[in-house]
Amino acid sequence: MLSPNFLWGASLSAHQTEGAANEDGKSPSVQDTRLRNPQIADFTVAIDHYHRYLEDIKLLGQLHIKALRISLPWTRIIPDGRGATNQLAIQHYHRVFAALNEQGIEPMVTTYHFDLPQILQDQGGWTKRQTVADYEHYVRTLFQEFGSEVHYWLTINEPNVMLLADQKILGFTYTHQERYQAFYNLMIAEKKAFKACHELCPDAKIGPVPNISYVYPGSANPQDVRAAEYFNAVRNWAYLDFSVHGIINPLFQNYLHQTGINLPIQPSDRALMQTALPDFIGMNYYTSVTVEYPQKGKNRTNGVSDQQSEDVYEQGFYKGLTNPYLSKNEFNWTVDPLGLQTTLEVVNDRYHLPIYVTENGLGAYDELTADRQIHDDYRIKYLQEHLSSIQKAVACGVDVRGYLPWSALDLVSVHEGMKKRYGLIYVDRSEQDLKTLARYPKDSFYWYQQVIKRNGVS
Ligand code: BG6
Repeated sequence: MLSPNFLWGASLSAHQTEGAANEDGKSPSVQDTRLRNPQIADFTVAIDHYHRYLEDIKLLGQLHIKALRISLPWTRIIPDGRGATNQLAIQHYHRVFAALNEQGIEPMVTTYHFDLPQILQDQGGWTKRQTVADYEHYVRTLFQEFGSEVHYWLTINEPNVMLLADQKILGFTYTHQERYQAFYNLMIAEKKAFKACHELCPDAKIGPVPNISYVYPGSANPQDVRAAEYFNAVRNWAYLDFSVHGIINPLFQNYLHQTGINLPIQPSDRALMQTALPDFIGMNYYTSVTVEYPQKGKNRTNGVSDQQSEDVYEQGFYKGLTNPYLSKNEFNWTVDPLGLQTTLEVVNDRYHLPIYVTENGLGAYDELTADRQIHDDYRIKYLQEHLSSIQKAVACGVDVRGYLPWSALDLVSVHEGMKKRYGLIYVDRSEQDLKTLARYPKDSFYWYQQVIKRNGVS
């Protein structure tokens, strides 16, 4: 049984929904500038949520969610990356929080979701320690401005996916050295956010929000098991061990050593690492990952070109493979609801903190019928199976406090534009044609409404 206080919600991010890319003083982020396939939708208009937030929030009120996860765009709040705050943006988000409050919806706010101001990227972005100071100034501004309206904060969306799938998410590739400089700066920046939030918003809670997927070994061959341990360390535990325990995961440390990396640790960081701690874990989950030890002669280029698939490869450590026991969705992502239960149990054993599942969902082609309906039974099945896994984890004693599937409305997918839809609410636009941008609840919307009413799936 889920607690009656279970936080039923849904998720969005700013750059994938808002549009208004050049309005009210917003500057370009790395998402606006990165080269995208011209055939797919960009973020200039997205789903026009910046102008339609009232309509969207009213619809979400009818869904009876208790929480909406949104992100705030750094480029709107502090357009120069550092320095002056943009009052137009501050007023806008006060109106957004008021509208949510009117519908009885708690905001859960991610401070930063892949959209670093381009102006900071031009100066080296996360590879530079200066960006940590800029981020600290930015989040302190958020906590001061919105501290009385927001009770749940999330720091940095999926730093692990951002770094491991950099080419796809950011539009450029870090060298190995730069990637782990950026890793360290992101993790220290997050610590600064924990500390500032606890100082400035004593009633609020804050947590990290990595993408956590348990990594399976391809076989019982001890070399494959070790490959899975390495990739678990590099993909998952390096991030959560740093956030929650304030330590560098030992196997990750060993991996860094073998690959010639020294993290740029400053002496004063040690105390911060161990004292600035999260109140909960926010966790995004779409799939599990399976790896084996890469045998000689089967070499490929090092890299992780997609966080969710078999593309993972690092010579001497791990190589992704197709898990023959699991099916795939239309976009080639492996579907593994049981893996969510396992992942939750492992995260619980390692960290003993409340967990919110802050993203989980199915990207699919949806069809709007002539009578304006969307029969997305495939999405209902996916969500039902994953929710059932959460309930089973809770029955095993895991402290899951909320579920905020991806996504509340259709939005521009990071990798595939508009054709890959995740929403509970359909948005009428295609890749190139903005059409009416009208919103239509899908069958999954009405199904989720009932799930919330019954406090779970049977
Ligand atoms: C998560 C991101 O990694 O995956 C979201 O936080 C993203 O921003 C989601 O939309 C799904 O990925 P994609 O590429 O299908 O949009």
